[in-house]
Amino acid sequence: GLAQVHQPLAEVSQLAAQQQSAKLTILYGSQTGNAKGVAEEYKNFAEQAGIAVELFNMADYKPKKLKDESHVVIIVSTNGEGEAPDDAVEFHEFLASKKAPKLAALKYAVVGLGDSSYEFFCQTAKDFDQRLSALGASAVTERLDCDVDYDADVSNWREKVTELFKQELKSGTESRVVPMPGVSIAPAASQYSKKNPFVATLVDGQKITGRDSVKDIRHFEISLEDSGIQYQPGDALGVWFSNDAEMVNRLLETLGLSGDEQVQAGDDSLLLRQALTEKMELTQSYPSFAKAYAEATQSSKLVQLLEDKAGLRQYLSERQIVDIVSEYPGKVGAQQLIAMLRPMTPRLYSIASSQAEVEDEVHLTVALVEYEAFGFTHRGGASGYLSHGLEEGGEIRVFVESNDNFRLPQNPDTPVIMIGPGTGIAPFRAFMQQREAEEAEGKNWLFFGNPNFTQDFLYQVEWQRWVKMGLLDRVSLAFSRDQQEKIYVQHRLLEQGAEVFEWLEQGAHLYVCGDANRMAKDVHQALVSIVAEHGDKTQEQAEEYISQLRKAKRYQRDVY
Ligand code: 2AM
Repeated sequence: GLAQVHQPLAEVSQLAAQQQSAKLTILYGSQTGNAKGVAEEYKNFAEQAGIAVELFNMADYKPKKLKDESHVVIIVSTNGEGEAPDDAVEFHEFLASKKAPKLAALKYAVVGLGDSSYEFFCQTAKDFDQRLSALGASAVTERLDCDVDYDADVSNWREKVTELFKQELKSGTESRVVPMPGVSIAPAASQYSKKNPFVATLVDGQKITGRDSVKDIRHFEISLEDSGIQYQPGDALGVWFSNDAEMVNRLLETLGLSGDEQVQAGDDSLLLRQALTEKMELTQSYPSFAKAYAEATQSSKLVQLLEDKAGLRQYLSERQIVDIVSEYPGKVGAQQLIAMLRPMTPRLYSIASSQAEVEDEVHLTVALVEYEAFGFTHRGGASGYLSHGLEEGGEIRVFVESNDNFRLPQNPDTPVIMIGPGTGIAPFRAFMQQREAEEAEGKNWLFFGNPNFTQDFLYQVEWQRWVKMGLLDRVSLAFSRDQQEKIYVQHRLLEQGAEVFEWLEQGAHLYVCGDANRMAKDVHQALVSIVAEHGDKTQEQAEEYISQLRKAKRYQRDVY
């Protein structure tokens, strides 16, 4: 009961006050949840090592408090073009500004999560590292920049850094472990995770672009029956896949391996063929493979290619692992091959359904990556598996990756503007299913674009139904190739700028999903112009307006 709890808690808070600085503060900035996951796991790890820890999302942390901290860990991801994730934007700006305090007493460690196939790999982590150091803080260890397969690196890092912090924080740590009898820990959202996925069944798969489309976009329905998995509109589904058997065969043949060799991949001991099929990344290629393969095979041409960074990026983006090996044939051993390859990572898809409508199913909108090259059909990892590697009724390992940075407004009366060309439409189908089930009163406006009206109007019948029933107030379509000049969603936004601004002034929330490289940037520019023109503001004021929207979580993006 309460009386029991009271005494120890009072003691603890007293101790905590005395040793206020003897704690470690973990700050994370996450977009899709990976950095958050690493931060939460690290908190548990450090606590088990006897360190007192406080964990914050950067978005909920007053940056000025930094000057009162003694030890800080920063775990932050980077968006495609080197931008900070939404959680981190404000904190990142603060540190870069003149307002940032001197931090001579601060000790810190930074972990970056990113994707080395992007030019601005781990840029946000680099920025934090640089700024903290410039403000006088000292790093206890070198920054860790992680690639998409970060598990092993993070696990080595945390052993090392925990030892360092333990020495630093030696005094008065044990005191802070706070057992709370009678208070149960909230259950995790689901027992299933990236490392422990649910084995779901594929119940339906259909091409939803027309026969003459330049695109092949598919709609998949997956049953989560008996899993207890709950997800919300805005969440993503992580999908594990198997590599194509024929591609694995070609790789084995080219290297003169049988596939029956026993190898070690991570914690598993298994046959090479199975490791290549289930465990290793083969459908994307990456610099670390090119480097290791070039060294092992003494291929001077490949070595030469490695020197030209931009050229290499281009080269790799057009090839799968088997293509590199076929182009530069050589001999490598079975275990040696495994060591060169990245562990497979699951693919994340924005969920296209709401459980309020589909209950224990989850729907996805997936662009099938498929192209002919070097005499073979090449397919993407998960999209190829979903469309060609799996029968209906087949098993697929999945987990939910929750995304608090892409959420419908709390208040169902709030208007919503959704901008989702191509497969970016997915989460907005989920949004509308949810708004329908909740009988939400708020206005809804969809901007959608794709190449051709007759071929590529994804879920056309459903949008029409929502219009008819009065739930969807406006639909603005941009079919880019139905006329001479390209028309994109941002052109439609600009055309209707006055009303877009009016909606924003009425408190509308704005969502953008889809291509990060071009679309999201062009849409952002269009939004700034709209606010400048119709809000009678300078460029700078308009940018500030948009940046305030973003901070208020009224401008949310899910871009890839
Ligand atoms: P395009 O391929 O005809 O150029 C979904 O992929 C839609 O996004 C397509 O109609 C595609 O047009 C379009 N698109 C391509 N580049 C874009 C950009 N910079 N901004 C917005 N839409 C773009």
